[in-house]
Amino acid sequence: MKALILSGGTGTRLRPLTYTNAKQLLPLANKPILFHIIEKVIEAGINKIGIIVGETSEAVKTAVGDGDRWNAEITYIYQPDPLGLAHAVKIAQDFIGEEDFIMVLGDNVFNMSLNSLIENFHINNADSAIMLYKVENPSQYGVAVVENNRLVRLVEKPKKFISDLIITGVYIFNSSIFAAIENTEPSARGELEITDAIQELLSTGGNVTYEIIQGWWKDTGKLQDMLDANQLILDEIITDNQIEQKDDTVYTGKLMISKSAVIKNSTIAGPTAIDDTAVIIDSYIGPYTSIGKGVEIINCEIDNCIILENTKLEGINKRINYSLIGKNVSIKAADKRPNANSFLVGDSSELYL
Ligand code: DAU
Repeated sequence: MKALILSGGTGTRLRPLTYTNAKQLLPLANKPILFHIIEKVIEAGINKIGIIVGETSEAVKTAVGDGDRWNAEITYIYQPDPLGLAHAVKIAQDFIGEEDFIMVLGDNVFNMSLNSLIENFHINNADSAIMLYKVENPSQYGVAVVENNRLVRLVEKPKKFISDLIITGVYIFNSSIFAAIENTEPSARGELEITDAIQELLSTGGNVTYEIIQGWWKDTGKLQDMLDANQLILDEIITDNQIEQKDDTVYTGKLMISKSAVIKNSTIAGPTAIDDTAVIIDSYIGPYTSIGKGVEIINCEIDNCIILENTKLEGINKRINYSLIGKNVSIKAADKRPNANSFLVGDSSELYL
């Protein structure tokens, strides 16, 4: 079995971060989302991986490389425009050949192993197997109607409620999906939808099975989803606190702290991840915070945040929480009068003072 990971598209809902970053490379617990997915695929014993890339292709290729670090063989497939998930599958046909393949959307994270869906696919001799998840608000997803333990209908982003089981971004196919895609028309949003192609497979007698996720799953499309996913992943860290404990700092909870981080006169309350060469002085770092490489935090209180590399925060007199702060950002208390806020802020930034 091969794997296809979709890392094309644009991350409009995570602007301004996605003006300069691929959304699939944003970090959760200091590791790019895409790496979390690649590791799930490798865990399932698959090492031939195709990655669909689009306008952020160079950034994705630079970050992921040739797959050596995972003992994987990575092939990049360029999709010039995000014309839909089924379009991405179509252009990957040469890479897939006649093999079965697992497809994972590059902005999804989850804690279950892929093995049980793979087993389900083989045991049922299926043409496709999809992973479903129960949610309260299904209208922004592909939705599956299940009756008597059988899939009967799939609809992409239905306007009216038809089921609370959504289609996650984890699918398995055999090569019959290519013919189904050929018989699929673009949707109202102009995309060739994989949901419609699977419906086509179902309508023409294909055997499509499913599994309902028992653990957690997140599409990281928006700020709150990123913070939630960061929290879920940090909750699972096994303490790997490499820093030597210093008397002037209090450490509590689950911590993943790099040996090269410098921490002085602070309180670090996990679950928290602190990456290489970060500097934390006279500060409180509360639960569910991921602090990237080279970040400096001086005289601040922070919790429930994702802070990307080389950002500097200093002397902010109110706690910073539920924030996603990009690379090389500087937020500092002004040290001279007038006592005012002043900004150099990029397009689509959001600040709450
Ligand atoms: O997250 C689950 C949902 O993902 C499913 O419930 C929907 O059925 C499915 O259509 C998809 O919906 P989204 O609207 O959330 O898909 P999005 O456009 O965010 O794309 C998902 C990933 O695939 C993202 O990493 C970008 C990548 N992509 C997307 C398109 C449209 C590509 O690589 N190429 C594309 O053409």
